[in-house]
Amino acid sequence: MSEIFQISCALFENVTLSEKADLIISSPPYGIGKIYEEKKTLNDYKLWAISIVENLKKNLKPNGAVCWQVGTFVEKGEYIPLDLIYAPIFMEKGFTLKNRIVWKFGSGLHSETRFSGRYEVLLWFVMDKSNYTFNLDPVRINSKEPSKRSFKGPNKGKLSGNPLGKNPSDVWKIVVDEWEKGEWNFPNVKSNHVEKNSAHPCQFPIELAERCILAFSNEGDTIMDPFSGTGSTGCAAVFHDRKFIGVECNQEYVEISRERIRSALDGTLKTRKIGTKIQSASTSAKTRQIPSEWTDVREDQSKKRRLYPQWKNESEDDDN
Ligand SMILES: C[S@@+](CC[C@H](N)C(=O)[O-])C[C@H]1O[C@@H](n2cnc3c(N)ncnc32)[C@H](O)[C@@H]1O
Repeated sequence: MSEIFQISCALFENVTLSEKADLIISSPPYGIGKIYEEKKTLNDYKLWAISIVENLKKNLKPNGAVCWQVGTFVEKGEYIPLDLIYAPIFMEKGFTLKNRIVWKFGSGLHSETRFSGRYEVLLWFVMDKSNYTFNLDPVRINSKEPSKRSFKGPNKGKLSGNPLGKNPSDVWKIVVDEWEKGEWNFPNVKSNHVEKNSAHPCQFPIELAERCILAFSNEGDTIMDPFSGTGSTGCAAVFHDRKFIGVECNQEYVEISRERIRSALDGTLKTRKIGTKIQSASTSAKTRQIPSEWTDVREDQSKKRRLYPQWKNESEDDDN
């Protein structure tokens, strides 16, 4: 591939690339009737997903990897996490699952019928479990106590951590803070986010793709996104000197993605810099105080809550 990036307008299931990818990063359609996709039954969705994974495999190098970002399938009031659907399909096709990374976001719709969803999942699969790329150093995060020293043994008195920081982990926790606390916590791309392009309802944050690219590929590698939408993966690829191949069936999104990747290349793309602190209202902000109009109803409820008294402080830890 001579160009830095190329994006085709096509249905991915019909695509055979002229060059295989080193790393595939994507968020597929969830089949739940968003404006860019058909609503499918769970069974039809599974059949479609099998054909997609087969085609991913055909277009991936033997030592390549896949980062598959998925949310939830909804059918008749049932919520099915799509990682439960995809993991067995990938494994059946010979992939090895290395990590199930939970990435969470602090805001979104507030559900009345179940707990509000605040995370999605990224599955990292490799084709060859004894030959794959994993670069930890570029994605290490600050450790909580960098100056901590070993207090016994042969390393007594020496710094116990790594100067580049610690492994960012795949562990999900109730939202406390952000990245620095060892969680994969990116702001979801919602309307007030600098990366938001109004023409697409489901962009994922460039930062999510950047971390995968840094950890699971090397400079000069080819990154592919079979459902490339507005080109978030492509922007991340060119930021880090990788080549990019995108496939997207909607011509308008193809045009937007080409434009965004050109701006990423010439340095004019508005983007949230990797690792930037997530803004949240300060604990003293007026909007974070419990309004006096709620006192009665909360006192009444708190009598029933003997087993759950921490209610009072919950929102202080969270961006909800
Ligand atoms: C979840 S969105 C991806 C958004 C993308 N990650 C971004 O940040 O802009 C899925 C995309 O897949 C596209 N799509 C749906 N079915 C497709 C297919 N069979 N082949 C290729 N693209 C498809 C949709 O138009 C949509 O843009």
